[in-house]
Amino acid sequence: MIRIAVLPGDGVGWEVLEGPVRLAHELAARGIIDVTGPLPVGASSYGSTGEGLPASTLAACEDADAILLGAIGEHPGVPLSEHRPELALLALREHFDLRVSIRQVWQPGRPPITFVRNLLAGAYGGTDLRGESTGETPAWDRFELEPWRIAELAEIALGYLQRAGHNARFISVDKANLLATSRLWRRVVGEAASAANVDVRHVYVDRFAYELGCTDVGDAVVVTEGLFGDILSDLASGRAGSIAMCASASIHPGHPVSGRCVGLFEPVHGSAPMRAGQNKVNPTGGFLSLAALLDWFPETAVHSEAIRRALAAVIEQGVVTYDLDRPGRTVVGTDEFSDGVVKSCLLYTSPSPRDGLLSRMPSSA
Ligand code: IPM
Ligand code: MG
Repeated sequence: MIRIAVLPGDGVGWEVLEGPVRLAHELAARGIIDVTGPLPVGASSYGSTGEGLPASTLAACEDADAILLGAIGEHPGVPLSEHRPELALLALREHFDLRVSIRQVWQPGRPPITFVRNLLAGAYGGTDLRGESTGETPAWDRFELEPWRIAELAEIALGYLQRAGHNARFISVDKANLLATSRLWRRVVGEAASAANVDVRHVYVDRFAYELGCTDVGDAVVVTEGLFGDILSDLASGRAGSIAMCASASIHPGHPVSGRCVGLFEPVHGSAPMRAGQNKVNPTGGFLSLAALLDWFPETAVHSEAIRRALAAVIEQGVVTYDLDRPGRTVVGTDEFSDGVVKSCLLYTSPSPRDGLLSRMPSSA
């Protein structure tokens, strides 16, 4: 049985996870998964324990198959001058070798756009590839990307393409007119695509940002370097109506390297400290993260689609949080929105625990 470690983290992290964690406990009560936590991490953890990633949190993550994270970033009352909260996230990625990021921008009733990018190496290389400035000396960041990493990303992206609809396009984004890493990128992705007999469109990152900003890129799998994908996935979520419409999975492909953990799942948005505690933010990214987590493991994948259907059902009824406010819609708080999604999932619960607890949504939803 898979075990999920819950790390709410900073700012709005707990608010966006409260509903998804309720669903996770429903699955646990039926013996489908095991849930551990909540465990401290990030700036809030630094504020209460003096450590951004306490050893007890790391140990609980090692003992889990996946991490469900709220957000790591600024937290009210913990000055950034004292602590860099993102170091805890980078440490988790390194410790478990979570080297591949998969982000799906979701919109009700539409095919998702999927981003596959590297999370280690490239722009996300280790501290030995960075030179801090004294204030007078130059700062530098060295960018290195081995061919095997690009090939692995291309393979994973091609896997998503295969599972997507027939119309899905395969897009490789780079900056080959400037960067050596991008010229290697283009070659390796091109070779992987032709070996799989798939058409790939190579596009420069600036051009693709423009296209995402002003056209409906829609049904596509995008493979790109970490930093480009970081920026482009936020942009694509904005186009989908809100940054809350995207879940982020940081994955270790293959057998775990430290403990059991092979994935960290979180909404793509940050900790939004100015909105923390206001019962305002959209928890969709938290629900999508739980769905992505369940999808990742063959034994729980049957339960994920019901979560997306419940989200779609609530949004299509016109019940939304402030960020999706449009004429004719009703704006509710985080709690009320989460209640709606949780109820929508559980309304169709099967009495049999083996029958897909969350998989009994009406097909019209
Ligand atoms: C993200 C964040 C991180 C990243 C930061 C905090 C290092 O922006 O998860 O999107 O760039 O991966
Ligand atoms: Mg980001």
